[in-house]
Amino acid sequence: MVVSDLKGQCVLVTGGAGFVGSNLVRRLIADGAVVTILDDFFTGRLENLRGVGPESYRLVRGSVTDSDLVRQLVSDAEFVFHLAARNIIASTRNPYEDFKTNIGGTLNVLLAARDYHPQRVIYTSSVSVYGNPRYLPINEDDRISLLTPYAVSKYSGEGYCQAFYESYGVSVVVVRYSNVYGPWQDPQNPYCGVVAKFMQRAQSGLPLEIHGDGQQTRDFTFVEDAVEATLQAALSPKSEGEVFNIGTGVETSVETLAHLVSDLYGLELVPLHIDRRDIDNIRRRVVNIEKIRRILRWVPSVTLAKGLCKTQQWLQTA
Ligand SMILES: NC(=O)c1ccc[n+]([C@@H]2O[C@H](COP(=O)([O-])OP(=O)(O)OC[C@H]3O[C@@H](n4cnc5c(N)ncnc54)[C@H](O)[C@@H]3O)[C@@H](O)[C@H]2O)c1
Repeated sequence: MVVSDLKGQCVLVTGGAGFVGSNLVRRLIADGAVVTILDDFFTGRLENLRGVGPESYRLVRGSVTDSDLVRQLVSDAEFVFHLAARNIIASTRNPYEDFKTNIGGTLNVLLAARDYHPQRVIYTSSVSVYGNPRYLPINEDDRISLLTPYAVSKYSGEGYCQAFYESYGVSVVVVRYSNVYGPWQDPQNPYCGVVAKFMQRAQSGLPLEIHGDGQQTRDFTFVEDAVEATLQAALSPKSEGEVFNIGTGVETSVETLAHLVSDLYGLELVPLHIDRRDIDNIRRRVVNIEKIRRILRWVPSVTLAKGLCKTQQWLQTA
């Protein structure tokens, strides 16, 4: 039986210095949790935790591939938010590194959880596991199609979660994020998403660079919504062993996104169409969020227009 809130709970956040992780850490601290971050600073940055008093969390610099360290940290935790991962671009460049972190690191977390039984392990997966879907919007039990090494590793992590839940009773939940954007997404990071890249270029008055024809679609999720959904998945007794899409259910083309960002900055859109990348092999994507709405009563509260506006405000003060 999980607790109803995280006040006073010891919480481990792997990847807590990253984009989503740092937003989650802020929220956890605000909710009164006792937070430990494990991060190797591959893409994470201390800067992402700017303004968060260093006394309000414990930072452990290290890797989820270090099984002894992971065991030690999981042994102290009531909740484990497992976000540490090599992202899709790093993974495509170096699938073996991805294998070690995304699969090996997840296995380390689960092995430790099998022995120490935290109240819940929350695994952050990705809608990349759907590949090019046959139907839209995508349901959680639709066909899995693993088109990148990243999709393979994220789905393997899910598989281990399910296996450890069924075989050893580890209390797990899997959330599949869809194109999360918002404050603390580092536009300088070559691995960051399209929203941060567009915003940075618009802020500098540069033409927005669109890979391919811009007709590819995505379901863009504001980070505060993703964090709220993740917390609800962590705390609900109904979510144990479940897999949830986290998105908005709204399909937006990259070209439309470019228009929204240009309008926000009062610019005339003069997009620069550049080469399609190897990782741009997904044409359309929008997820069905009916399951999480029905079971957890979670719905997103921030529209894309509003989320872009909030991100712009953050960029201007960052
Ligand atoms: N941002 C998105 O749109 C999105 C979409 C789908 C899934 N996800 C998943 O959400 C999680 C967070 O993603 P993000 O966007 O914040 O990415 P991010 O790269 O900003 O965060 C990942 C964090 O993990 C850390 N890390 C990487 N390898 C590590 C290792 N071996 N040991 C310890 N720490 C390590 C990085 O330094 C970074 O702080 C990831 O698991 C990712 O797969 C994100």
